Amino acid sequence: MGNKIAGARDLWQSRTGLILAMAGSAIGLGNFLRFPVQAAENGGGAFMVPYIIAFVVVGIPLMWCEWAMGRYGGARGHGTAPAVFALIWNSPVARFLGVIGLWVPFVVAIYYVYIESWTLGYSIHFLLGTSPKLAAGADSAKEYIEPFSVFLGTYIGASGGGNIFTPSLTALVALGITLALNFYILYRGISRGIEVFAKFALPALFIMALVLLVRVVTIKTDNGSFIEGLNFLWNPDFSALKSPGVWVAAAGQIFFTLSLGFGAMITYASYIKPEQDVTLTGLTSATLNETAEVILGGSIAIPAAVAFFGVAGAVSIAKSGAFNLGFVSLPAIFASMPAGQFLGFLWFFLLFFAGLTSSVAITQPVVTFFQDEFGIKRSSSVIITMGIMLVSVLMVIFINQTLDEWDFWAGTIGIVIFGLVEVLIFMWVFGGGNAWAELNRDGIIRVPRVFYYIMRYITPLFLLVIIGWWGVELLPGELQKTSWTIWVSRAYLVLLFAVLTVLVFLANRRKSAGHGS
Ligand code: ALA
Repeated sequence: MGNKIAGARDLWQSRTGLILAMAGSAIGLGNFLRFPVQAAENGGGAFMVPYIIAFVVVGIPLMWCEWAMGRYGGARGHGTAPAVFALIWNSPVARFLGVIGLWVPFVVAIYYVYIESWTLGYSIHFLLGTSPKLAAGADSAKEYIEPFSVFLGTYIGASGGGNIFTPSLTALVALGITLALNFYILYRGISRGIEVFAKFALPALFIMALVLLVRVVTIKTDNGSFIEGLNFLWNPDFSALKSPGVWVAAAGQIFFTLSLGFGAMITYASYIKPEQDVTLTGLTSATLNETAEVILGGSIAIPAAVAFFGVAGAVSIAKSGAFNLGFVSLPAIFASMPAGQFLGFLWFFLLFFAGLTSSVAITQPVVTFFQDEFGIKRSSSVIITMGIMLVSVLMVIFINQTLDEWDFWAGTIGIVIFGLVEVLIFMWVFGGGNAWAELNRDGIIRVPRVFYYIMRYITPLFLLVIIGWWGVELLPGELQKTSWTIWVSRAYLVLLFAVLTVLVFLANRRKSAGHGS
């Protein structure tokens, strides 16, 4: 094992394509929906203190770990966590821990793709003029929002309040189209699918966001203005920093937005040319994500809500969550403006592009796993992966609370646990010296030495503290939820984990029997 050079791997064809694909994987719904809500709820401007600290001590280090491990594995013919960990540490424990790096991205991809499909469904409704209309004479936040809130309930089929959802036909058709597009991009492969799409989608996404930003900057009502919106979002409430929850929220946002702890960057990085730089290229793509998050994500949704509904209205909207902000309040704001139908379309289409470049990235690890570890052709690997996704997404569509439950276990706790595993395996099992040399190999810049100490000591400690806090503060409440829908959704998560574990060990057996490298 170990030294097969990746002759047949479908490598990224250009550095720009690689940066855009990686940035596309990071820039997603998290930037435009999750970030503004997190910032508004956790101290506004003060949130940026733990956010920047988490970016430096967790975000950048883990990004480099994933890029370096991915390039290392790819050069030896392996692009997923179980196999890359086993190259570093030839033990069943390493393989088992690696299963988390397949399970987390796949579980998140299943519910993510459904939310992504809502953005497509909504953009189609806005384009066709079948989106909700403002109630005549509406003049309070509640009256503006009401038709859009009812519309969302009907769209996802949650209005009945029961345990089983009955989604609208549009929701199912939009999901079908979304799955088909994900399938098509993955089917075409790394360079002809993901890279080509990212080169077009990322610039388009920035242009759409800028157009919306220009419009939001000019909103001025009796309730407020864009500047008041920025003031509200960025006015620091430093007392918030005393709450550990704010620090945890900031670290969680860094993980989610940079797609760290998903195992997805390991997979993307495994398609980097073996002698290509990862230090500066990785940093560039992370910086693009932060620009999209802080500048664009921070300047559209919340400032628009403040300008339109005033600070008190925006606070209650932010508290009601990212979905209410993105799918209820913002469309209501756009609908009340001239050319509102077009603006609403643009908002949802922007979200759709952001979502699509991320969902292919978090689905790719399982595809790569089948290709690398079982020698299955790309086309068949994509068919198998998307087939399992199609069946699994039924849980999210129809069973109430599945989405939140999966987001808690995989998209919140799972990513941080896997981040800790990654940094420990890279910096401790591989060894600080080896890891440092591998990271800096062929680098355009040399990583400042201080990061060696951060990656070796501070990142793991920081993550341990966060996991401990979660265990004490969030887990007990989570475990008290006992409705049957919760248990069914958890059982499904266990089933997926078990299936992936069996596959990982079968792949290893196959390799030991002389197939594969
Ligand atoms: N990084 C992706 C996002 O922000 C998952 O949505």
